[in-house]
Amino acid sequence: MKITFYGHACLGIEVNDVSILVDPFISGNPKAAHIDLNSLKADFILLTHAHQDHTLDVEAIAKRTDAIIVSNYEVAEYYGNKGYSFHPMNHGGSWDFEFGTVKYVNAIHTSSFPDGTYGGQPGGFVIEGERKNIYIAGDTALTMDMKLIPMRTKLDLAILPIGSNFTMDVEDAIIASDFVQCDKILGYHYDTFGYIEINHDEAKRKFFDKNKDLMLLEIGESIEL
Ligand code: NI
Ligand code: MN
Repeated sequence: MKITFYGHACLGIEVNDVSILVDPFISGNPKAAHIDLNSLKADFILLTHAHQDHTLDVEAIAKRTDAIIVSNYEVAEYYGNKGYSFHPMNHGGSWDFEFGTVKYVNAIHTSSFPDGTYGGQPGGFVIEGERKNIYIAGDTALTMDMKLIPMRTKLDLAILPIGSNFTMDVEDAIIASDFVQCDKILGYHYDTFGYIEINHDEAKRKFFDKNKDLMLLEIGESIEL
């Protein structure tokens, strides 16, 4: 499983020869100006929630790739009504896709489209594929529900928001990594806007002090699990 960070909360995942994009927000992110939206591959687009900083480029990418949009019922229907391919899910539900299993899990946040349309309840994803298991928390507060995840899934990587203001901060993400029982963390949802700027060295040191590994990737950089 190959994971690429495209800035903010946008991820590319290559698993079992399938390309997944998560929460595409590239054209609106000046820090990701070097990423060519038109070169990104997508068989599936996974959306944690409806906010613009997670959905801005969905339609451009879906038009070009005919990707299947996977999200909660309301977000998936929103795109379905516009003619895009979609697969609706809801919290606690799993589906076996051609690339692996996806579970839509709880997050504490809000979810509405920029035009005010209700975007259902926000979530995160647990993805199992190529014998690797990852948790993408989405935008969320620290929540006890995270403790449910390791009851079913032994994670190889937890992707957690660390920017604070709209989501968990570094300290809460450290507790979250305890809750999900995973010491390998990829941080996201930081630095994009003034509200969520963080000190990288300090964040890494705080995780390191708890014997955990916080990775902060350059935009466009990949890791292999
Ligand atoms: Ni959000
Ligand atoms: Mn967000």
